[in-house]
Amino acid sequence: MKKFNYGKQYLDFSDLFAVLKTLRSNFLTQGPKVAEFENAICQYTKAKYAVAVANATAGLHIAMMALEIKADDEVITSPITFLASANCALYVGASPKFVDIDSTTACIDVNKLEQAITQKTKVIIPVHFAGQSCNMKKIKEIADKYNLFIVEDSAHAIGSDYLGKKVGCCEFSDMSVFSFHPVKNMTTGEGGVITTNNEKLYKKLLLLRSHGMTRDPNFLTKNDGPWYYQMHEFGFNYRLTDIQASLGISQLKKIEKFKKRRKEIVEFYKKSFEKDERFSFLEEKDYANSCFHLFPLLINFDKIKISKKELFLKLQENGLTLQVHYIPVHLQPFYQKLGFKEGDFPNAEQYYKKTLSLPLYFDLSDKDVGIVANIIKKLAV
Ligand SMILES: Cc1ncc(COP(=O)(O)O)c(C=O)c1O
Repeated sequence: MKKFNYGKQYLDFSDLFAVLKTLRSNFLTQGPKVAEFENAICQYTKAKYAVAVANATAGLHIAMMALEIKADDEVITSPITFLASANCALYVGASPKFVDIDSTTACIDVNKLEQAITQKTKVIIPVHFAGQSCNMKKIKEIADKYNLFIVEDSAHAIGSDYLGKKVGCCEFSDMSVFSFHPVKNMTTGEGGVITTNNEKLYKKLLLLRSHGMTRDPNFLTKNDGPWYYQMHEFGFNYRLTDIQASLGISQLKKIEKFKKRRKEIVEFYKKSFEKDERFSFLEEKDYANSCFHLFPLLINFDKIKISKKELFLKLQENGLTLQVHYIPVHLQPFYQKLGFKEGDFPNAEQYYKKTLSLPLYFDLSDKDVGIVANIIKKLAV
């Protein structure tokens, strides 16, 4: 029986060769490949600056620090996301707040955003769910009105376009944070990058990524000699290695090819499940041209006898190891202790009950997509 996971990386010989070359070079880390990768990201997204980091979680953390978000501040994000989008507020002592999703996209509902803003709100973190950009124009309009920062959680969205421009160009945000975990649209093993057009934020991110230390003579308050460094910020070791960066450079060259295939697979799924009252799916809006990270199939369990849990187990027995994106963050025990409760965000909760992410990755063949769709249609009864 053929087995399918919901996502996986695609590496070809050029990726292996790129990594091997770095492994045989003088620098496994803190060498030239990191800057080369950052430049490639800038060229691709058209952002002015990029800072490669160990993962997107680290990126979100230092993005909050660079904006000087602290205790008593509030950070707004979506409940349908991975934990890190909200946890980054807690890392700096701030309070995460949620705005319910728009059920047609599973992205933050821009029409509910304004009513969630208080005197304490400092940042909005829109999550480009499944690879589709949020309505950034509207979000920026609101952020400007209330003087808020925007940090895009673009973990799903490398390769995606919004209004004809790349997600990560930061035209509508202060920073944009990508993830290169192996299930994402491209990979560096673990890894991430923050893009920005703001030089001050860029310089701060560079410091925060590496212990808050600098050797730049322009910034030293004194200089004991060529060995000398100073710590100016309270930073971390959130660096990406040159090994990872060389994989990133090689993978980024293929992102448009990856995007094309991911779109084809999504179209195939849509055709397979349309006009069947048991199933529906999210909409892609006119402003978006998405490099789809996920294909969440929405299953109308009121129309079938099998429960979500039973279906999930049956699919597993038939070779389909799927995933659910996501358990609403506010329903996590840790968040319930912070005061959130069931019923707070009904669209997110309804969405969670219906959603299952189907296999979506570059080397999934047309035949495989057909097999997956048929298994699901057969078992969802
Ligand atoms: C929406 C979202 N934000 C942030 C992250 C964190 O990314 P990383 O695993 O690179 O830390 C993820 C990872 O799955 C994610 O899906």
